[in-house]
Amino acid sequence: MTNRLPLLAGNWKMHHDHLEAIAVTQKLAWALRDAKVTTEQAQVAVLVPFTDIRSVQTLIQGDNLPLSYGAQDLSEHAEGAHTGDISGRFLHQFACEFVIVGHSERRSDHHEDDELVGKKLRAALANDLTPILCVGESESQRDAGTHVDFTLGQLATALTDIPADDLMNFVIAYEPVWAIGTGKTATADDAAEMSTAIRTWLTDNVSASVAATTRILYGGSVKPDNVAAIMAAGDVDGALVGGASLDADTFAALVAAAVRG
Ligand code: PGA
Repeated sequence: MTNRLPLLAGNWKMHHDHLEAIAVTQKLAWALRDAKVTTEQAQVAVLVPFTDIRSVQTLIQGDNLPLSYGAQDLSEHAEGAHTGDISGRFLHQFACEFVIVGHSERRSDHHEDDELVGKKLRAALANDLTPILCVGESESQRDAGTHVDFTLGQLATALTDIPADDLMNFVIAYEPVWAIGTGKTATADDAAEMSTAIRTWLTDNVSASVAATTRILYGGSVKPDNVAAIMAAGDVDGALVGGASLDADTFAALVAAAVRG
């Protein structure tokens, strides 16, 4: 009874230079066409390194490919003396639809805490970008049974004082840190438990309409052979895919498996 369009988003991380990006994006569009996946069945996005964005934009727009694209991070600032950072406005000018905010690798490699993640979330919304907010627990938190409280706490801090009306176009990715790039996947029941907890939290703390429209993805070692079970469980609207998005045929097979169930 949901009309949320499934979203399969490939997070390339620091893979594929701009020439490789053009080849992979073109091949992905062909592979999706061959697999007969339509834009009514799922939205497919590539989230690429900053240096790839212009090339990917030119290809997708020029050839009218049925793909969305975006970035993996943005600055919390609008502009200024912030060497190496990229403003949300610049991403908007490249017509990016999405930007990842608070990925666990940003949190660990660059010491991003929930407060900074909240500022980046605001910067994304201020520039008409759809944030894909990443939350999720560590292995020790899961072992201790505190994973739901911890993950909802990350969400609460990041969303502090953001009006519900600003969150009508918003994506949350539940990515248990212990499952990212490890080959260990949360079970479908684990993904269902957390996605249901997140949606209930949104209903209680933001608004019923935000809870109804927000797409909640699962991420962490999603592959063509486990995506259908994860998406069939509970309240999961798609996946944030790292390793399995790098190869166009593998990613298209994953998308096809996701839409066929
Ligand atoms: P993975 O990465 O699919 O390689 O585990 C997921 C992510 O980090 O978004």
